[in-house]
Amino acid sequence: MPHLFSPLTIKDITLRNRIGVSPMCQYSAEDGFPNDWHLVHLGSRAVGGAGLVIAEASAVEPRGRISPDDLGIYSEKHIEAYQRVTRFIKDQGAVPGIQLAHAGRKASTYAPWKQKDYGVNVSDDQGGWDVVGPSAIPFSEQHRTPQELSIEEIQEIQEAFRQATVRTRESGFQWVEFHAAHGYLAHSFYSPLVNERTDQYGGSFENRIRFVIETTRIMRQEWPDHLSFTVRISSSDWVEGGWTIEDSIELSKRLKEEGVDLIDCSAGGNTPNPSIDVGPGYQVSFSEQIRHSADIATAAVGLINQGMQADDHIRNGRADIVLMAREMLRDPYFPLKASHDVHQTDKLDVPPQYERGWTRWK
Ligand SMILES: Cc1cc2nc3c(=O)[nH]c(=O)nc-3n(C[C@H](O)[C@H](O)[C@H](O)COP(=O)(O)O)c2cc1C
Repeated sequence: MPHLFSPLTIKDITLRNRIGVSPMCQYSAEDGFPNDWHLVHLGSRAVGGAGLVIAEASAVEPRGRISPDDLGIYSEKHIEAYQRVTRFIKDQGAVPGIQLAHAGRKASTYAPWKQKDYGVNVSDDQGGWDVVGPSAIPFSEQHRTPQELSIEEIQEIQEAFRQATVRTRESGFQWVEFHAAHGYLAHSFYSPLVNERTDQYGGSFENRIRFVIETTRIMRQEWPDHLSFTVRISSSDWVEGGWTIEDSIELSKRLKEEGVDLIDCSAGGNTPNPSIDVGPGYQVSFSEQIRHSADIATAAVGLINQGMQADDHIRNGRADIVLMAREMLRDPYFPLKASHDVHQTDKLDVPPQYERGWTRWK
């Protein structure tokens, strides 16, 4: 029976354990470039023992950034800057991953800590930009109203995803995640709440999932067969009349047919105030249902903060890997400590430089 510290092999990639760093925007980039902050942020979690370290939502075109300070991978010049990060993560025994994203109608906003002074929307004179979506419905009163994408513009964005996938490969990443969750572009296409299109990208389930399926197909062709291709979805809108877990199971089956290796089961983000019963592991049941009903590997995420809790999810087949965000901010060494909590200290992978700090636990 696999447990939290069992290696996980998907295609030719083996993670040393089942703990991954969930993608987390750092709002610390300039023109999309990773810098010293990203190297230290991602690198220290690799030092801390995570099996997988996924870099934040990284935009495939400048317009697809959530904020002006987001990472991007929209030019050849970005590649060298990412190579520095991926090299270090690999040197520490972790697998470097990245989340490729387009923020759609939720783009052109300030970093959270700047919103206190400036509000949400970045105005044109502060470097903001026009945003796009499936339909001209703003996310909230504080967001810009998106321009409805034409078919030709949809294809241009899909081409941007293709090119970003090639750059991702050249940057040395071994795991890619297509961000199709949290109300960003792909999710706003498949959710019935904000897609009012009457062409082949709107209306029926088949039409609404067309953008995510086609884009996955385009990206998968550019991503080596032997490396992991994954998709983060919002398993539920948490809103009456919205996208449901049943829809997610069906979508996951289709994504599996497109060569997707794992579904990262998040939820929400498409409406400002969804009704969520937040508590420990509150999204894990989505991962469990998708894993069993769509017969595909899954990641569980959302308030998984303890070693025993995480181990229990893996041992009981609710997920193949757990992803952690906020706990990783508090404690980059969570995996090393968790190996002690779950009595797997022989699996401790401590860098030799830090060995003396952990010998009592070996
Ligand atoms: C600072 C921060 C930034 C985040 N940025 C992203 C992101 O870039 N992409 C994404 O899919 N989710 C993002 N999330 C959501 C997390 O990946 C994760 O799904 C969520 O926080 C729930 O996990 P947790 O309870 O372990 O924090 C972010 C969360 C935090 C706290």
